[in-house]
Amino acid sequence: MNKSYLNTLLASAFFCLATVISAKAQDVVIPIETKDNALVLQVTPDKLLNMVYFGSKLTDKNEYGAIAKMYNFSGTIGSYNNAYTSSGTRNLLEPAIAVTHADGNKSLDLKYVNHTVTKINDDVSLLSIKLKDSVYDFEVTLNYQTYYNEDVTEQWSVITHHEKKDVVLNKYASANLCIKAGGYWLKHYHGDWAQEMQPEEEALNHGIKTIDSKLGTRADLFEPPVFMVSLNKPAGEDEGEVMYGNLEWSGNFRIDFEVDPANNLRLIAGINNFAADYVLKPGVEFTTPKFVYTLSSKGKGEASRNLQSWARNYKIVDGNGPRLTLLNNWESTYFDFNEPKLAGLLKDTKKLGVDMFLLDDGWFGNKYPRNGDHAGLGDWQVNKAKLPNDIAYLVKEAKANDVKFGIWIEPEMVNPKSELYEKHPDWVIKQPQRPELYMRNQLVLDLTNPKVQDFVFGVVDDLFTKNPELAYIKWDCNSIIFNAYSAYEKNQSNFYTDYVFALYKVLDRVRAKYPKVPLMLCSGGGGRVDYGALKYFTEYWPSDDTEPVERIFIQWENSYFYPALTSSNHVTDWGKQPIKFRVDVAMMGKLGFDIVIGKLKPDELAFCQNAVATYKQFSDEIWHGDQYRLQNPRENDVASIMYVNPAKTSAIMFNYLVSTRYHAGSSAIKLKGLNPDKMYTLSELNVFPGRRSTIAEANYSGKFLMTVGVNPDVRDGRASVLIAVKETK
Ligand code: GLA
Repeated sequence: MNKSYLNTLLASAFFCLATVISAKAQDVVIPIETKDNALVLQVTPDKLLNMVYFGSKLTDKNEYGAIAKMYNFSGTIGSYNNAYTSSGTRNLLEPAIAVTHADGNKSLDLKYVNHTVTKINDDVSLLSIKLKDSVYDFEVTLNYQTYYNEDVTEQWSVITHHEKKDVVLNKYASANLCIKAGGYWLKHYHGDWAQEMQPEEEALNHGIKTIDSKLGTRADLFEPPVFMVSLNKPAGEDEGEVMYGNLEWSGNFRIDFEVDPANNLRLIAGINNFAADYVLKPGVEFTTPKFVYTLSSKGKGEASRNLQSWARNYKIVDGNGPRLTLLNNWESTYFDFNEPKLAGLLKDTKKLGVDMFLLDDGWFGNKYPRNGDHAGLGDWQVNKAKLPNDIAYLVKEAKANDVKFGIWIEPEMVNPKSELYEKHPDWVIKQPQRPELYMRNQLVLDLTNPKVQDFVFGVVDDLFTKNPELAYIKWDCNSIIFNAYSAYEKNQSNFYTDYVFALYKVLDRVRAKYPKVPLMLCSGGGGRVDYGALKYFTEYWPSDDTEPVERIFIQWENSYFYPALTSSNHVTDWGKQPIKFRVDVAMMGKLGFDIVIGKLKPDELAFCQNAVATYKQFSDEIWHGDQYRLQNPRENDVASIMYVNPAKTSAIMFNYLVSTRYHAGSSAIKLKGLNPDKMYTLSELNVFPGRRSTIAEANYSGKFLMTVGVNPDVRDGRASVLIAVKETK
């Protein structure tokens, strides 16, 4: 087959439905293109599938074949750029897959068989490449699902075998990329409770840098599965090449960044194989979680917008829909409430002007009432002392106040002091011969047991069945997994992985029955945020730390990866800042309140009411617009971010003082994302009653605003300033 004929065949494959291509192996070049980028795979004469390119797209597809010859991907022990590196044979670097065959042999050598391209719609295509071992009846299909306009790829593998007995997967990554650049800078995160998303950026040197989790649930408490890698030099907001990645997995993950002897970056992302050899029966398909990534040659801002558009269009629930503003009672009552108190809060919800009241922890348990975090978890019956007229009464009261009603649950967990634990001690994850270990006085239920799955689904289903008008659930997960052992699992080493599959099974059932109801993903703060979980949720809780300056930093780092409408930001009493600052900070994502409305002074209440109304006016820009980070709080006295609607006719700019130094304040800040040829009117929003704006309402061209900028006049005494940017009528 000649080269140009093959390339025509490849090109046409991108427009056909499920075209199977089994050309002569030595001829196959497989470009995976999106709007701006190409990832190129190539099959060698001995049928190894290698990755030869990841970068800007070329105009002429025929030239991809020449790329491999330009670069050196090999060293003394062979080539390092295998697209899914197997172990036990030719490869001696970190593998993507390692297995123990039914006969105990540990060798694997995967060779290309064929590939198919399925066009799912105008934007989405799926490339599946079949690889097979030549000795054992063992195969892997690599899947690359591309989102053309978003420049996003999701990659995963499907592993199966037909050996005589079970095979053990010792490592089973989702993706194995090989990237060639003149240097690599990794930005990743660490954290803990109330200090999530603390960034660190480092140059990657030879050897392996791993980010991972072994916590089981609440898995990204210490290290979340999101990262970015700059190529050639650390990328800026609007320049430089940068790749973002996230393993879509809400459990133990492992992402290896290996700079190999030939100076490639070998990136291997997947479920953590720590204590997790997976026993796979013959004929069963093991589908790894997806690894999602995007590449931008125009810096971090574009990479964020790529990922955020993809998330809204394809991943999060109702990504292009609305969100509910809310009043939560957690910090105003903790566990101490009753019907009259809640009835008052429902009235406050109405008074404030938000859409919904969210009842937090403490509404359940009778034999062991949930009056603190030491008892009652697992007993999802309404506490009769606090709520004698059941949830139904609150739903009715909410309706009478013309607001919606939502509720908190933590269905995967149990306090030992509970009826659930008394009835089902075998439903709990614990080592049978060792003392129990607790986090927040609780244990994790063994979701791998189908009866536990039914129970957890039942908690949700029961609430909606009994209260069809229930509008929202906050789903919490406060404990990690100590003493990992399942009384149900036959193979203990499958447990960590099966737990997450089981969680997704339950969430699949919830979503099959309640496809659009808003669910908040919470995990003792932000301990479980990833796109595997966000597939089922409308929003997440970034942190229990709501001190507004800290929160700017946490929200800022999350903004690189997640769209603003998914970030639940609540105004609380943390910090000493005035209410205006706290509200302005919360408005940069999904606005909520968790304060005692009755304690607000009249002008503070009026400010909050106006702010809620303003938020609703600009919610489309914040929720569905394009996000532009203007000034990073880690590099400036003033943090600044804006959201622009797709038509570029309306935008909102948020500015926050993050320094207490004497002269700290703003100078001109350049706007982004506007139409240079249009005129815009600027005006200040959220001006506190009795104060006057120092920003004169004025008109400027988009060109002026993006070249010269505007000074929001942020300084001590004006620590947060919001500016509306509207196309001049
Ligand atoms: C976790 C959550 C909080 C709150 C409490 C309730 O800590 O992060 O927002 O819901 O649980 O116990």
